[in-house]
Amino acid sequence: MTPPSGLTLKYIGLGLGTQNYSCATSDSSSMPVAIGALATLYDATALIAALPASSNAVTQTTCQADTHSNALSMLPRFGEHYFNASGVPSFDLFGAHDAQYPTGGLFLSARKTGVSPAPATACKGTDGAAAVPWLTLVDDGSSRTRGLKEVYRVETAGGSAPATCEGMEALVTRDYSAEYWFYG
Ligand SMILES: *[C@@H]1O[C@H](CO)[C@@H](O)[C@H](O)[C@H]1NC(C)=O
Ligand SMILES: *[C@@H]1O[C@H](CO)[C@@H](O)[C@H](O)[C@H]1NC(C)=O
Repeated sequence: MTPPSGLTLKYIGLGLGTQNYSCATSDSSSMPVAIGALATLYDATALIAALPASSNAVTQTTCQADTHSNALSMLPRFGEHYFNASGVPSFDLFGAHDAQYPTGGLFLSARKTGVSPAPATACKGTDGAAAVPWLTLVDDGSSRTRGLKEVYRVETAGGSAPATCEGMEALVTRDYSAEYWFYG
């Protein structure tokens, strides 16, 4: 993947978690509204860097991740992705290190700057949900950010909202997985 200009790849995280939506009512006149996500981030930097870029092995990695394969769950857990109480997408890489931050703990307080639909061949979630879009998020300038500038969410599997709220609870969660490429 081409790094954003002037930046270097710091880590590749494999995210496993849920995309969350809210439903005002449980009938088809109501549409799910995206309210955030929660995912555990595993350090897949060495694993993914070792795969040939030309193969679809990377995609298969996230497809397997969505079914929580044993091999992938053995990757070190090194961070968490969540939306803070103000709704800001946040990436807490508590297990990450950097020459500038040798004691560890990198953080990205982010804002979304780019969206493109996942490819038609993207994996569905275990619940049949289509793959969420690929995204670009950048540092929002918060003092909480530490050592990271940008992240790409790619190779997504599952996570999309149901078409309507028919038959849904007030909080709808959809399992998803994705690769998060962190640059700094
Ligand atoms: C998303 O759902 C998870 C349960 O999977 C929950 O723990 C988390 O607090 C929710 N986050 C948001 C922002 O809705
Ligand atoms: C959420 O993150 C933003 C940006 O980093 C920060 O300004 C805000 O205080 C945070 N909100 C909470 C409730 O922590």
